[in-house]
Amino acid sequence: MEKKEQLYEGKAKKVYRTNDPERLIVDYKDDATAFNGLKKGSISGKGVINNKMSNLLMAKLEKDGIPTHFVEELSDRETLVKRVSIVPLEVIIRNIAAGSFAKRYGVEEGTPLEIPTIEFSYKNDALGDPLINTYHAIALKLATEAEIETIKKYAFEINRQLQALWKECGVTLVDFKLEFGKTSDGTVVLADEISPDTCRLWDSETGEKLDKDRFRRDLGGVEAAYEEVMKRLSGHMA
Ligand code: TMP
Repeated sequence: MEKKEQLYEGKAKKVYRTNDPERLIVDYKDDATAFNGLKKGSISGKGVINNKMSNLLMAKLEKDGIPTHFVEELSDRETLVKRVSIVPLEVIIRNIAAGSFAKRYGVEEGTPLEIPTIEFSYKNDALGDPLINTYHAIALKLATEAEIETIKKYAFEINRQLQALWKECGVTLVDFKLEFGKTSDGTVVLADEISPDTCRLWDSETGEKLDKDRFRRDLGGVEAAYEEVMKRLSGHMA
């Protein structure tokens, strides 16, 4: 596969065209941002870990019935993916109250939720990714009702599978963010990434944070946390 010109550079990844119009190459960076880009930094080795972890998880989900954009890992930082148009919704699943949910509803971080929850944000940096309900999303033509039903079904199924997988690694899956895309024939597939950048992962025994909250909250040990969860996952999946 031939890597052609850069199409896009995001906060954590670059995207390149290839000689196949239906395939793109994503290239994971070590750059980290938080609070809609207000906080900037770098997490050494993050791009390599996020690339590998996302690919391991997406390959597993694909095998277990969830369509994804993943095609093939090309190098430490590069992966071949299906070209999709991203549905401009951040899909957030929560099992335990944390982060913005804990703050918004005044519940202590770490409080288990009676049922797993889903929420959507409108992916729009200029507006600061505001929360959006499904009526608004359909009204604004961000997705159709059928697409949203499919996304919800996949998101909860992904939660069931990833919760079980992380549990076997001694990690509690607190919450995570997904993005979906549509291939040229309109099929909804899981896209973007699943990594410590996009999940809250807590050590099941100690509750230690093993994800990007260490960067967001200046807790230190950021690189070590990414390495630790990657080591546990790859050890488990080997
Ligand atoms: P929140 O509690 O800040 O809303 O975050 C919920 C989950 O979504 C958490 O696992 C981190 C992830 N997330 C992203 O992947 N990207 C983002 O821009 C934000 C705000 C959160």
